Amino acid sequence: MLKSRRKILQASAGLVLAGPMFGQRRALAQTPACDDSPTPRQIEGPYYTPQTPRRSNLIDGLPGEVLIFEGRVLSTVCQPVPDAIVDLWSCDAQGVYDNSGFKLRGHQITDAQGRFRFQTLVPGSYGNSSFRRTPHFHVKVQSPASPLLTTQLYFPDHPLNQRDSFFNPALLVKIEKKVQQPKLALFDFVVPVQAGG
Ligand SMILES: [Fe+2]
Repeated sequence: MLKSRRKILQASAGLVLAGPMFGQRRALAQTPACDDSPTPRQIEGPYYTPQTPRRSNLIDGLPGEVLIFEGRVLSTVCQPVPDAIVDLWSCDAQGVYDNSGFKLRGHQITDAQGRFRFQTLVPGSYGNSSFRRTPHFHVKVQSPASPLLTTQLYFPDHPLNQRDSFFNPALLVKIEKKVQQPKLALFDFVVPVQAGG
């Protein structure tokens, strides 16, 4: 509770600092490096395949918009979590999962700074007229000293987000707006690392 209160106060200070003397600087430009709330869990869904290959490039020649997805695994006290498995899977640009092989599936192991990096595709949407999933990643994060985290990640400003009952704004990746190709998506996972881990 104290931490949350402190963060609110810090956020208020940030709003003041971002006043006229800072010109056009955006009030919320400073994203916290870490939040003390663990990343929310979501359902695995029906398309998980275990024993994925350890690799960073998941594309396997599939067409679509290339996306770099990178971030860190952090503890609830904002310390990097090394040696965590980050297992990523998604559908292709047409909304189809590879359920017989490992296209758009793979895992990485975080380095000493807790970092991981994938090269994949922007996923499409799928479903039917009564229920359509907004584009999302599926992820499992297993660190040596925390329970398995299964969740999904979403993309900002997609029109289907608000119509997907699974959508959670706490699970939005941040898209880098720099002039660069391919597009870069960022997300830091926060896991409750147990004492002694
Ligand atoms: Fe899915």
